[in-house]
Amino acid sequence: MSITYDKSSGIFTLSTNNTTYQMQADSYGYLLHLYYGRKTRGFADWELTFIDRGFSGCPYDAGHNRGYSLDALPQEFPVQGTGDYRTPLLILRDSEGTYGADLHYSGYEIHEGKYSLPGLPAVYANDGEEAQTLIITLKNDRLNLSVKLLYGVLPEKDVITRSVIVRNDGQDKITILRLGTACLDFTHGKFDLITFHGRHTLERQFDRQSMTHGTFSVSSRRGMSSHQYNPFVILADHDTAETHGRCWGMQFVYSGGFEATAELEQFDQTRLTMGLAQEKFAYPLKTGEEICGPEVIMSFSSEGLEKLTHNYHRIIRENVCRGKYKTAQRPIVLNTWEALYMNFDGKKILEVAECAKSLGVDMLVLDDGWFMNRNDDNRALGDWQADEAKLGCTLGELVKQVNSLGLKFGLWVEPEMISEDSELFRRHPDWAMVIPHEKPVLGRNQLLLDMSRREVREYLYACLSDILSSSNTEYLKWDFNRSIASVYSHTADNQGKVLYDYVLGLYEVLERINVSYPDVLIEGCAGGGGRFDAGMMYYTPQIWCSDNTDALDRMSIHYGTSFGYPAGVLAAHVSTCPNHQTGRITPMKTRYTVSSYGAFGYELNPLKLTDEERQEIASQIEQYRKDRELITEGLYYRINNPGDPYVAWEFVSPDGSKALVNAVIPTNHGNMPEIYITPRGLTPGALYRDILTGKVYPSDALMDSGYPLPLPKGDYEASTLRLERV
Ligand code: GLA
Repeated sequence: MSITYDKSSGIFTLSTNNTTYQMQADSYGYLLHLYYGRKTRGFADWELTFIDRGFSGCPYDAGHNRGYSLDALPQEFPVQGTGDYRTPLLILRDSEGTYGADLHYSGYEIHEGKYSLPGLPAVYANDGEEAQTLIITLKNDRLNLSVKLLYGVLPEKDVITRSVIVRNDGQDKITILRLGTACLDFTHGKFDLITFHGRHTLERQFDRQSMTHGTFSVSSRRGMSSHQYNPFVILADHDTAETHGRCWGMQFVYSGGFEATAELEQFDQTRLTMGLAQEKFAYPLKTGEEICGPEVIMSFSSEGLEKLTHNYHRIIRENVCRGKYKTAQRPIVLNTWEALYMNFDGKKILEVAECAKSLGVDMLVLDDGWFMNRNDDNRALGDWQADEAKLGCTLGELVKQVNSLGLKFGLWVEPEMISEDSELFRRHPDWAMVIPHEKPVLGRNQLLLDMSRREVREYLYACLSDILSSSNTEYLKWDFNRSIASVYSHTADNQGKVLYDYVLGLYEVLERINVSYPDVLIEGCAGGGGRFDAGMMYYTPQIWCSDNTDALDRMSIHYGTSFGYPAGVLAAHVSTCPNHQTGRITPMKTRYTVSSYGAFGYELNPLKLTDEERQEIASQIEQYRKDRELITEGLYYRINNPGDPYVAWEFVSPDGSKALVNAVIPTNHGNMPEIYITPRGLTPGALYRDILTGKVYPSDALMDSGYPLPLPKGDYEASTLRLERV
């Protein structure tokens, strides 16, 4: 049993193969957090200390017990107004404007299997995989409000998930002003917080800082998970590194606004939370209504960041991604964006396709610019009819011709958007999210469609369905190219719901497409990696990682991304030089080494390549086909950090029989000292052969002392070592 309840102490124990999570419904009816860490026997109730603390409120039910304060005790679901002045998960207001509601434990249920969530993505258990669900109900009698805390335990994955459902059964209309899903309270410890910040074209940069007193938060107020902060955070002991030390992760399975907070409070206790963004959120619940807090995937490692990463990689690959492409190899694509932008016609597309085929590419992806009036990025979003004059034929016919060259066909769409200059806007101006009598905020000269409206979702489904059923389009690149600013729905009874309902609306359309067209691969995209989150991965098993294709910048983007997300979900393409984002010139080999990371492809005009480059690309594609299983299914190791004199990363097959070590030396210097790379994860006591040279290495010496990199002859040189166990 991975979930047990001890009646005499009120302690719940959630166990995975290597971790234990404990909480206690105590004699006053509060649900206190006891422990999340390395697997243990017995009960960690000594974690609780009861000290009379000045200015920390005591619940009335504790009577004269002044040592009992929720301000100082670790909690599972802290609510505003209970005398706990730390960051709450729940803030609510009743119709009189009164804040707060004391919640008391009312019961629990344990179920076999992993819960799912209405309308929201969530981790699922595979057939035959062990999983259990615990539901703890907390209640407030005054409002007749219930809060169900959902815990999913996947023992073999070392993962515990959390979600929450708040339900109003009272007569009063209440408004939820803040809804967090998960909280981890630590009674002591000195921690660092690891977060991933960025911007358009430089997403998920690693940041690590020591906690100081106060609350630090990373969040997105943009209605999307965002380029700026990723909804994945790690709390780690000060001395935790890749291969040793304790660390805890929280990953939000949600693609809208979020907030993660880490607070070091007055008694040097630490609270970590994850939940919905509070701004522009005021969710009304009438009698009988409920709202579900998106899922948080939690994991703990006592063996450093590397193990935590492996846990997250496995859960995303095996229990979040779904459909045919969860396991099927993804096509190697040639994407037309950086190759042609919007300057093409049907003839050019076919020339590019033919050339791409000769290089060994599997699929041509026609990016932006293929539909009516879309010759620049200022108009036409919403009108999803092909520009037949530009293409020289219908979309279906173009796809047929691409197919007849032996290539699959993929297409770019940006369904959630509407341009003011579009037929759709002229027909349905009220479908755009624009606040009446306010001038809308533009982004890339476009507006958002109101995804909370059924008729909008029906329209989009019909458009996409039309494309997919009238042409053999086997891949959609689903883009989203601006942050949400003006939040307004003409049909909502309350504007405070719209942002949340928008995301549910998006998920509904994605789910319908997935169900109706199970063979179609959807690649997520939001100006690159602006919605690179586990919520999207449930519907789109790969995501365009960044609009930045520069090899050097990509290394740091891939590095940050790797902490929470596996290589297979990350799309990376080799582009031309000078690079279109940075102007940098890097060797073709380096561009390949960096891009051969996950869902691989090219983003350049093959007609402009020299013969030598063509040959190089053809052999890269051959090589990628040989390596890709190892890349997409192997264990990933960060050998060191971008910023060091060299950057190295490694993939090792799950059985340890093969390894691929990549390294790039960003800057060459005169008379450089030798650089030694130390691979990890090889089978101890084994011998490994370098596939290229035949040289045999003893695994322990190699992992201990490393092998020398060939000294570079210029900047940005890459080298690869492919090993197989002898
Ligand atoms: C976004 C995407 C790009 C490309 C353009 C097209 O920026 O991230 O890859 O598709 O839109 O407009």
